[in-house]
Amino acid sequence: MKRKLFTRRGMLRLGAASAAAGGATLGYTFLLEPFWLELVQRDLPIRNLPGSLKGKTLVQISDIHVSGRVSESYLIESFKRVAELRPDIVVYTGDFISLDEETENSMAKVFPQLPKGRMGTAAILGNHDYGVNWAEEEWAQRVIGALDARGIPVLRKGVLDVGGLQILGLDDSWAEKIDLAKGLASLEPERAAVVLSHNPDTVDQGDWSGYEGWILSGHTHGGQCKPPFLPPPILPVVNKRYTAGHFELSGGRNLYINRALGYVHQVRFNSRPEVTVFKLA
Ligand SMILES: [Fe+2]
Repeated sequence: MKRKLFTRRGMLRLGAASAAAGGATLGYTFLLEPFWLELVQRDLPIRNLPGSLKGKTLVQISDIHVSGRVSESYLIESFKRVAELRPDIVVYTGDFISLDEETENSMAKVFPQLPKGRMGTAAILGNHDYGVNWAEEEWAQRVIGALDARGIPVLRKGVLDVGGLQILGLDDSWAEKIDLAKGLASLEPERAAVVLSHNPDTVDQGDWSGYEGWILSGHTHGGQCKPPFLPPPILPVVNKRYTAGHFELSGGRNLYINRALGYVHQVRFNSRPEVTVFKLA
């Protein structure tokens, strides 16, 4: 007697199982992974690092996107986790806000909780900090003012010296505020340095000769959704190689791209939110 391969009951069971798996995946993608923060630990070897800074921690936080769309409690809980690490240096690599009707209210609650480094803290702006079309200087000034009130200086093309480490902040390229030549000229080439640049494409634009070291970026969010073994389908960069993590570049430079703490849309798959905890070496 021939056995039926597909019975009605079997098909119903398969359908129910697929629906449950689909529901679980959707739940994970929209409700779980966007808030499943990973503290990524890495060494950060810096040329001519003063002995007193060896072993110190530098925490990178990027792309917080304070707005009506990002959970305030998630951000504040994440900041508490960072503060508990008692980092020596904290750097922020832009996109503090996304502009919507809740941004200003949310800034008032979230910004006072931004963690700071025991030795120093520095920030740069990203394209979203410039509001609509990345062109609203008044929004940039509001973000700068709120960070200033929290005691966090925004470097627009200047250097902050923290215990002998020069931290150079470059302004945002999509907002057309970047001045690479002026920024690099303010570094003393023989002393330890690290560069903050929101958009990783900056590393391929302009003349970087004379700078050998790390550039810390954000902006891509790791693509937010990344199919396994394939590049993320949406990546807001010219060089699609620049997804997330470490990239060795020409001229003795190294790029690190943080996957972002917040999001523009509440969806993540295979690209967990990240705070990077570097150990200076
Ligand atoms: Fe961003």
